[in-house]
Amino acid sequence: MLTSLITANTTLDVNYTTTVGGEALNRPMSDTEICGIIFDGFLGGTDITANTISFIVYYLAHYPDVKKKMMEEIDRTFQGDKTGPITEDDYQKLKYCEAVIKVVSRLFTVVPSIVKGTAKPDEIAGYIEGSESKKLSFLMFGGGLRICPGRKIAMIELVCLLYRKYEIDLVDMNAPLNVESIGITACNELLVKIKPRN
Ligand code: HEM
Repeated sequence: MLTSLITANTTLDVNYTTTVGGEALNRPMSDTEICGIIFDGFLGGTDITANTISFIVYYLAHYPDVKKKMMEEIDRTFQGDKTGPITEDDYQKLKYCEAVIKVVSRLFTVVPSIVKGTAKPDEIAGYIEGSESKKLSFLMFGGGLRICPGRKIAMIELVCLLYRKYEIDLVDMNAPLNVESIGITACNELLVKIKPRN
């Protein structure tokens, strides 16, 4: 990752291009810019992913039908194999899991500062919502040139890793979700019981 950041916009860059959308890319990144991107990578790879997992665990515990359907899809895909490498083909089969992650991310968006719009005018609980451009309407990972570069690995982690190996339940089903929004929407505490799946 560091190599690609240092070589970006130089002739050593395998994707070297001099312009994007008509705008000149005429210098490599500064050390400060590289530090910023590396920091985002650490944050995305730990905090944002961990918070997203917490919200998924919470919601699945409260929607057992959805959880059952998701586990069935995982079992159909991996056929009981809990440790083997995950292939692109496996990932492509986990459509229901992907949908669950996206719905939970809509309900509890860990990075909430990305503006969302509806695809067409709609009314929800008496409130009329306007419509905006369809493109980039789901912004779990942002969009455009600065779209999250960790999105593929994050989805693989979220879709394939957790429920394939473990059973996860809440310690207290009545405990409210303990959430704080300070730049990112963080789950302060979620007490869970985890055991290996039979
Ligand atoms: C569920 C997990 C994750 C979510 C929801 C998420 C979300 C986001 C969002 C919304 C942005 C801002 C994009 C924009 O400005 O349009 C972003 C940027 C970024 N993410 Fe993620 N991310 C996740 C996981 C990861 C992982 C696992 C990595 C690294 C391995 C990562 C690395 C980065 C980096 C480096 C940026 C900055 C990109 C730039 O400024 O050009 N993220 N992420």
